[in-house]
Amino acid sequence: VTSQANPHSLIIGGTRGMGRALAELFAREQHTVSVIGRQIPPEPITGKVHFWSVDLLERQELSKTLDDVIVRHGNLNNLIFLQRFKGKGDKWEGEIQTSLSATKFVIDALIDQFHDASDKSIVIVSSAASDVVAEEQDAAYHVAKAGLNQLARYYAVVLGPKGFRVNVVSPGTVLKKENQEYYLGNDKLQKLVGRTVPLGRMGTALEVAHVISFLCSPKASFLTGQTILVDGGANLVSCETLARKLADLKF
Ligand SMILES: NC(=O)c1ccc[n+]([C@@H]2O[C@H](COP(=O)([O-])OP(=O)(O)OC[C@H]3O[C@@H](n4cnc5c(N)ncnc54)[C@H](OP(=O)(O)O)[C@@H]3O)[C@@H](O)[C@H]2O)c1
Repeated sequence: VTSQANPHSLIIGGTRGMGRALAELFAREQHTVSVIGRQIPPEPITGKVHFWSVDLLERQELSKTLDDVIVRHGNLNNLIFLQRFKGKGDKWEGEIQTSLSATKFVIDALIDQFHDASDKSIVIVSSAASDVVAEEQDAAYHVAKAGLNQLARYYAVVLGPKGFRVNVVSPGTVLKKENQEYYLGNDKLQKLVGRTVPLGRMGTALEVAHVISFLCSPKASFLTGQTILVDGGANLVSCETLARKLADLKF
């Protein structure tokens, strides 16, 4: 598998949050980065980072934008999905369309627009809520994320012979620029996280971005169809253990 000196990476949902942290990391790693979101952020990113403003729900506009990305910056090496629904209207329809259907639409539209000679990586960011129930999120979020996990496995098998690797990164709650004041300012929550997460803290957007970067590198050249949990081990702890810790009971 050859690596490319300046890979072209398209990030869907990279204008803020974890996607922006990934765009910044890729720019430092000398990628040419194309970023799609509804709004172009006021603060630019240093490096070869290009923003496109389009709503994933507007499929005609989206098709034109995807064409434009390829015409301007050439075929892709990496395609990463970090969008989630934050719009108005019906939440079920919105989340399923934005997270699940748009991901399939973009993959299908771009499948012939990847560099042939190099490693081709697709990474879908899912969530712990694809497996467990997180009551702070709605039903659509759970179903869309579970669907994305299986979509990744499907494409890993079907597109494997064409040289594509398709993997999922599934974070727990992540500190990002937009929420760190809230989470770090909440002492009670931080203490609980310290006691219940095996690694004793919340992860950061950059730590998730590093895992995505690995999956988009030739170092991951034989890795496909996998869901990688990036949660400091939180998913491993049993209900009994959690309950005992919270109740200060001995083990
Ligand atoms: N934050 C966490 O703790 C956490 C934990 C587990 C999993 N995740 C997952 O990780 C991913 C990133 O999370 P995040 O918290 O960084 O998300 P976020 O801050 O809400 O960012 C979502 C991105 O998607 C874009 N987007 C949303 N709707 C769009 C639409 N209709 N058309 C085009 N772009 C759209 C947004 O840009 P615009 O607003 O400009 O459109 C933004 O760039 C999501 O898939 C989320 O479910 C997050």
